[in-house]
Amino acid sequence: MAFNYEMKYHTYEAALSKVKELLMLEDVENGLFYLDKAISLSQELANNSEVIEFKNRFITENRKLIQIKKNLKEKGINPFLKKETVKSSGGGAPEKEERIKFFKKEPPSITLEDVAGLEDVKREIKLNVILPLKNPELYYKYKDSVGCQILMFGPPGCGKSFVAEAIAGELKCAYAIINSFDILDKYVGEAPKKIKAIFDEAMEYDNCLLFFDELDSLFASRESEDSTHTKDVLTAFLTCLSGFNSNKDPKKIRVIIGATNRPWALDTALIRGKRFDTHLYITLPDYDARHFLVSKAFKNHMELLDNTDITIEEMTKRFDGYSGADISSILDKVKTKALEQALLNQKEGIEENVPICMKYFDEVMNSYRNSVSKESLKYFEQFRNGDI
Ligand SMILES: Nc1ncnc2c1ncn2[C@@H]1O[C@H](COP(=O)(O)OP(=O)(O)OP(=O)(O)O)[C@@H](O)[C@H]1O
Ligand SMILES: [Mg+2]
Repeated sequence: MAFNYEMKYHTYEAALSKVKELLMLEDVENGLFYLDKAISLSQELANNSEVIEFKNRFITENRKLIQIKKNLKEKGINPFLKKETVKSSGGGAPEKEERIKFFKKEPPSITLEDVAGLEDVKREIKLNVILPLKNPELYYKYKDSVGCQILMFGPPGCGKSFVAEAIAGELKCAYAIINSFDILDKYVGEAPKKIKAIFDEAMEYDNCLLFFDELDSLFASRESEDSTHTKDVLTAFLTCLSGFNSNKDPKKIRVIIGATNRPWALDTALIRGKRFDTHLYITLPDYDARHFLVSKAFKNHMELLDNTDITIEEMTKRFDGYSGADISSILDKVKTKALEQALLNQKEGIEENVPICMKYFDEVMNSYRNSVSKESLKYFEQFRNGDI
């Protein structure tokens, strides 16, 4: 039977709103049931979308939903409940309101050294973000203010979110990762308030990094059923953005990063003038970057490559055209195949090491759909060159 895109999409949206509704009511069991539905529907939509923009969108949403499920099951984190709250203090007045805290004070443990490849991107980040903090006098000799607004764009799974976390790890500063789930609200007027609350909280820190993931789902008009609603969110965002970097204290740096895998769908007001004026293209890993990623995957499991017919170099070559996320997912599946065999061996009392081998690698590669197509890369290159 032919794939009915429209029907699937409606079912997917219905499942998503059910997830939100149930998790808001703390009904985790039923919430998980609909979450599983939404995960498989987003996968189906990604596999069957012919328009590359939609394909990317569903791949991203699928990954996000899987992460939500993992956090919910393993850590009990419910994204639709207030995570960490502070009571408003009102000079002895009764505490009326509770405010959501968006920032984490503990910086991530990763740094730019953990990022594979993307050497130009790292150089640009050091120049604009890391060095100003270390060498403020020199920077202020040349500039009126430091801090910057970065737009990272590129295909899914190539490290935009990872790079943002690595920057926070380098700066050792408070950071917030905001995505559409944190902001969009069915009640008109709530989303602009949340945006203001985020920026207000950012102003409490001397150094901070504010990361808006999937900017396009927040600020692309296509996503909204109600254009006034979208316009209000965008206006609130632009107003907050203009005041954000206006600090002249050399000991402070505020960085704002937006990420998208559909940069051409962004409202142009977002990338006009001084807004998000540093554009970084986060693209597929080159040979060295892939080698780094494959080696990292085996760093603590080198025995899996003993006495076998496959090498890190061969895998690196075969991964040409695959994203970092694809590589990690494929290698995980390959390891699982060896593990399954080891379990069977153990049952039969055979104790020898089962390495990963070309057969397992081929099997997984043959059944895996590469999430980045050549055609989609052309769009990104056109955007980078200013053609779209
Ligand atoms: N260049 C890279 N260096 C190190 N790890 C990477 C790199 N690219 C991808 N990865 C790995 O893949 C995972 C997924 O990447 P990430 O979520 O950062 O991609 P993304 O570009 O933000 O994708 P999306 O557009 O779907 O949000 C990361 O958590 C990381 O483990
Ligand atoms: Mg991301």
